[in-house]
Amino acid sequence: MAHFPPSLLDEILARSDIIEIIARHVALKKSGANMIGLCPFHHEKTPSFSVSADKQIYYCFGCGQGGNAFKFLREHDGYAFHEAVEYLAEKAGIQIPQDTEQQTSDNGQQKKRDYSILESASAAMNKALHSESGIKACNYLERRGLPAEVIRDYGLGYTPAGYGFMKRVFGDNATVNTQLETVGLLFKGEHGYGDRFRDRLMFTIRDRRGRVVGFGGRVLGEGEPKYLNSAETPYFHKSELLYAYSEHRDTIRKRKQLVVVEGYMDVLALAAHGLKIGLASLGTAIGERQIREIFRLCETPVFCFDGDRAGRQAAWRALERMLPLLKAELTPTFLYLPDGEDPDSLLQQEGGEIFNKRLQNDAKPVLESWILGLKLLAGQGAEGRARMAKKADAMLATMTDPYLMQAWKQEAERISGIPLQRRRPAVKSTEADSHLVPGFILNAIEERFMAGLMQDTQRLSQISGAGLDFFIDKPSLRALYSRAFSMQADADTQTIDIARQLIREFPEDQNMISRWINQPTVQDIEYKSLLLDMEANDIKNRIRQGVNLGESVQLQTRLRELQAEQQTLKEQLSNTGA
Ligand code: UTP
Ligand code: MN
Repeated sequence: MAHFPPSLLDEILARSDIIEIIARHVALKKSGANMIGLCPFHHEKTPSFSVSADKQIYYCFGCGQGGNAFKFLREHDGYAFHEAVEYLAEKAGIQIPQDTEQQTSDNGQQKKRDYSILESASAAMNKALHSESGIKACNYLERRGLPAEVIRDYGLGYTPAGYGFMKRVFGDNATVNTQLETVGLLFKGEHGYGDRFRDRLMFTIRDRRGRVVGFGGRVLGEGEPKYLNSAETPYFHKSELLYAYSEHRDTIRKRKQLVVVEGYMDVLALAAHGLKIGLASLGTAIGERQIREIFRLCETPVFCFDGDRAGRQAAWRALERMLPLLKAELTPTFLYLPDGEDPDSLLQQEGGEIFNKRLQNDAKPVLESWILGLKLLAGQGAEGRARMAKKADAMLATMTDPYLMQAWKQEAERISGIPLQRRRPAVKSTEADSHLVPGFILNAIEERFMAGLMQDTQRLSQISGAGLDFFIDKPSLRALYSRAFSMQADADTQTIDIARQLIREFPEDQNMISRWINQPTVQDIEYKSLLLDMEANDIKNRIRQGVNLGESVQLQTRLRELQAEQQTLKEQLSNTGA
């Protein structure tokens, strides 16, 4: 990956507008020094997502996600880091220097051409659907009840029978042929290049950013394979993609409703019935990365499966994959459809409203599905109960939320009648909980104090020396804290933004720094009082750890001074009526 000089990154950030980028997805309104809105990373009814226009940093007090514009583009819009850099640089009119650009740019130009040929191919397939050769496919779609808007909006199409469709669309030269091979539309056989998709109804598959990356092609009528997907290409990674993600992301967030189904046709049938909330994996069992994306969009996804044996097995696999990601805040449910039906067939019979009722009323909590699955797996009698306990133990071991794990464990013990072994959950510190790692837990005063410093970094120079002893017992925070002081000391005053640089130098702490920035403003008077508290606590700590008599007397005197100053501040505060 290209290495960008830090000064370039700073300049790009300084000349970008994070509000504009975020406001495309979140309705923001002014609140104190910041803008607030509903968090796009998790579900909520009251806004806890805050953006500091001043510092160009966002933070959600609900889910703990925070960072700068690069991070938002990556986490929310699916950009790779270098793409986010290039995108913002271009927007800000900043030229990326030649030598850094070189590696990405040759590559980048090629990528642009590849995405564009995929987009053109999708358009050509749609055009072919509406041409004479597409009549059969058009009729098929009509029989299956898909309206014209769905066909247009989701980029459905047709690839004519026989070889040569790609050649007719794009011409026949070495460059184009290799390119079409790279993106998975042509294969190279004994007799030259051939079309991968022939006489198929085509589904356009887009990535998180809405770029066409591949296709699914269904036979018209009977034939094998029923669905042919693009092969893995540099752009098409089946296990990472979800069908209709970019088309449905905003609706899912708005309605706070998401349903995971098995097939493309199910997703489209839902859309045709006013439920633009369906996502599907691309014919493979749903994996951890996909489940992670699903939870980021919605805390209450419904996983919908056929009622038959295969459906139950698929549900069990999905459940196993999601265990490490489960938290008390997430409430996935499982909906088992009547045997022999899929969402598409049910929607044709009963319509969108009744199906939506099913989603809301008939879906079972994940815990209930787990117990049900364990029972089925274990079978009867004492041996069955023992098998159940063993399996439960093994599965609990993959959970990471300690409270949820306890709750599940109790339930499994109740059902099996056997005490389980597992006590502690798998330790897995995610980025979001980094501030919860021991040594990093801040009390309320420390938290507000750091917020005060980061919001107005001039304060650093006022206390340099005096405040440097703070956080001795929190080594991981101390590194960042002292770095802030040295940045302030080195700075040719106003030109550097310390918080922004800290985020860059301590990427693993960016959620925490973003949180400080987005805290309600720490006014001067509160800050003064916090500073007194910090020093007093520091002194108390030192006394507790043991000092000689002389020191102790000195420290006690200082402590009384601090308490007196604190008292004066309080009086000032009540006099001003603040
Ligand atoms: P289904 O066989 O359940 O098809 O496969 P479906 O969605 O009901 O399709 P229709 O209604 O018969 O048209 C579900 C999904 O599994 C993948 C596809 O993604 C499909 O949407 N699949 C299926 C394949 O990748 N290859 C196949 O051969 C079959
Ligand atoms: Mn079907």
